[in-house]
Amino acid sequence: MQKKYLMTPGPTPVPPEVLLTQARPMIHHRTPEFNAVVRNCVEGLKYVFQTEQSDVLLFCSSGTGAMESSLANCFCAGDEVLVCHNGKFGERMVQIAVVYGLAVTVLEYGWQEVVDPADIAAHLAAHPATRGVVVTQSETSSGVLNDVEAVGRIVKDYADCVLIVDSITGIGAVECRTDAWGLDVVMTGSQKGLMLPPGLAAVTVSPKAWRAYERSTLPKFYFDWKKYLKNLEKDTTPFTPAVSLMIGLDRSLKMMREEGLDGIIARHARLAEATRQGVEALGLELFAPVEGRGNAVTPVWVPDGIDGKELVRILKNRHGVTIAGGQDEYAGRIIRIGHLGYFGDFDITTTLVALEMTLSELGYDFEPGAGIRAAEAVLMAEEED
Ligand SMILES: Cc1ncc(COP(=O)(O)O)c(C=O)c1O
Repeated sequence: MQKKYLMTPGPTPVPPEVLLTQARPMIHHRTPEFNAVVRNCVEGLKYVFQTEQSDVLLFCSSGTGAMESSLANCFCAGDEVLVCHNGKFGERMVQIAVVYGLAVTVLEYGWQEVVDPADIAAHLAAHPATRGVVVTQSETSSGVLNDVEAVGRIVKDYADCVLIVDSITGIGAVECRTDAWGLDVVMTGSQKGLMLPPGLAAVTVSPKAWRAYERSTLPKFYFDWKKYLKNLEKDTTPFTPAVSLMIGLDRSLKMMREEGLDGIIARHARLAEATRQGVEALGLELFAPVEGRGNAVTPVWVPDGIDGKELVRILKNRHGVTIAGGQDEYAGRIIRIGHLGYFGDFDITTTLVALEMTLSELGYDFEPGAGIRAAEAVLMAEEED
């Protein structure tokens, strides 16, 4: 027997309470019992997204479905949109926008760069007919956190331009104030901070985004937002929903409310800091720049002379700890330690011990125990406050 630890930024571990709830016998979705589940999920999601003004819609899809829905529901073919791209998921938004025939301007940065809101301001000033700005808040591929609050301040002055935020690994890990920051569409996926298996995605739709929807002519059926809204008015869904996942979501949202959003974000900040301090004490270098580091995932450069793919393999096969590797040109060059959702202090310390053991097995020279001591110092210092 080998005990397993899932330390990836999605899918993420699911609390036993949530797993057990999902194991209940199936119920029919056109029943008062399920209507209550829908109602609770929407209310809970509004709390998590920090919105009262926006509607929250739930889809049976992974996060990419929510991404696609945001473009299909807000625009017409040929609409000018500005997509910020500083990693894998910004790039995916560009791909979807191209497929839908939008006139895309790509604001491209390196993976270790943060989106500069001044570039967005300059673009909108020069192209006031722009209908949408798309930003990834928490770039899972790089760990970079983009300042969507600053982008919100810019976009709100353009009455016909919606701000679409991919917060798929932001929600539940970092602050994301949908209403206060003027974010028109914000999305997340179930297998992230919501602590569920993959299969559900949620989007918020502001009044401004509904106006964009009204003029949008792009084809849509399964992801047609209005279908979901009309059904939500009756506490139901347009199509057969993922009943067990939604029952699980009802439970995980209750857990999130019990901890409170501030507590959840503080826990993530603390675990992220412990991870960063831990790996740096081993002489490893962080990938994301200091001015834009999120709480969901810690990407780390693999030291010279070490095979990053082998490192990930040994961690998983020999020690039972699954972390993520790098994507695209960073495959084998960086590792990514996830700490998003159902994570506590000892997930981090366990992972750092396993990392130390693996690095040692691969012949990397470091002071044994240094990582764990540094992480422990962070975790204990905060506890004394
Ligand atoms: C920031 C971000 N956007 C989009 C996605 C795509 O979501 P999915 O894989 O659930 O379709 C992910 C998934 O990892 C993500 O982290």
